[in-house]
Amino acid sequence: APAAPARVVVRAAHLVDVQSGTVRDNPLVVIDGEQITEVRYDGQVPAGAKVIDLGSATLLPGLIDCHVHLTGDPGEIKGDYYEAILKRSAIDSAILSPIYAKRTLDAGFTTVRNLGASDYVDVALRNAINRGDIPGPRMLVSGPPLGATGGHADDTTGFSPWIEFHSVDGVADGVDAIRHRIRENVKNGADVIKFMASAGVLSAETSVGAPQYSQEEMNAIVDEAHRWGKKVAAHAHGAEAIKMAIRAGVDSVEHSSMIDDEGLKLAKQHGTYLDFDVYNDDYILSEYTKKGFPASTIDKERLVGRTQRENFQRAVGAGEKLAFGTDAGVYPHGWNGKQFATMTKWGMTPMQSIQAATVNAADLLGMKDKVGAVATGHYADLVAVGGDPIKDITQLQHVAFVMKGGTVEKNELNR
Ligand code: ARG
Repeated sequence: APAAPARVVVRAAHLVDVQSGTVRDNPLVVIDGEQITEVRYDGQVPAGAKVIDLGSATLLPGLIDCHVHLTGDPGEIKGDYYEAILKRSAIDSAILSPIYAKRTLDAGFTTVRNLGASDYVDVALRNAINRGDIPGPRMLVSGPPLGATGGHADDTTGFSPWIEFHSVDGVADGVDAIRHRIRENVKNGADVIKFMASAGVLSAETSVGAPQYSQEEMNAIVDEAHRWGKKVAAHAHGAEAIKMAIRAGVDSVEHSSMIDDEGLKLAKQHGTYLDFDVYNDDYILSEYTKKGFPASTIDKERLVGRTQRENFQRAVGAGEKLAFGTDAGVYPHGWNGKQFATMTKWGMTPMQSIQAATVNAADLLGMKDKVGAVATGHYADLVAVGGDPIKDITQLQHVAFVMKGGTVEKNELNR
């Protein structure tokens, strides 16, 4: 990316101040290099600054998605799901992933947490973005997700045992193997550890919610990851698996679909973030049969889709810590912002949904001093929309201006 000019002021009509939960008028965001040095409301432009005037637009902090998979996209699966899997390798995914990174950035998501990729393609993508070789969001990456043999992380399930697969994945059974697998991920560049606490939808197991690790194994994952200074995200749909993961001390539960009252209570007690990918169901039910996924997969989605939304609403009511995570990659990259409307339909205020994707997400990622708010000392990660997102949350599906680290990545408002 080209070097950002020394001092820039971004001016707009409004700013969604996610820290106070209010909308403020006539903001001036002063940026030096890649950082915000001041946010003022007195209309005084500091001397020598270049002004980017976004007119009547509303500014927000760059958005954060805590659960994406930038190394694949459903657009790759044209109707034969097995062909798409069996004829592609890590190199195919590495060639395409920069396109998905750019789509995500253009949609206003300046930071993402990539929760699961084979062969460390996610590490290479993050590194290329960090070097400035290609555009893309800031990325925290997990590398291959840990999971039990035959479980949600084992992509070789359902194939003939005579087929040999050559790919780096996260399959590990038993405490010692798990500790070794985590060390491999850390050694190869993982920022965060992802594991499969329960079965899933888009994998071959018959159950969708059954626990796939013992309590002892989950405890070992969290102990080992935290010792290396890495947070832990647990994929879990089933009520029991969710509670086991929370008791083990994970930092976030992903999907959280069938969480029960005891699970909600435990999450509160432990300060665990819950991520509900509540938009996903619409896309899977409308598209995945056409893509050749087996009927058993669609049936599993029917078991969790609606329940997940109802439980999301209960979690909002219970005042749980909620962060925005979409599982984009299961649905098209760049559509991340569609989930805001689902979240507001199921119990959140527009401001709460925006906070989930900014301050809360930044807190979960351990980056709250750097991203997730338009504030002094933070990266100059800003987005703008033409209308009022508090009145019409679908505005966040049409982000018209994106700045990441002081560099304008997209500007359809002022050319
Ligand atoms: N990756 C997840 C899985 O296969 C997707 C679940 C999507 N469904 C949902 N209702 N959120 O389990």
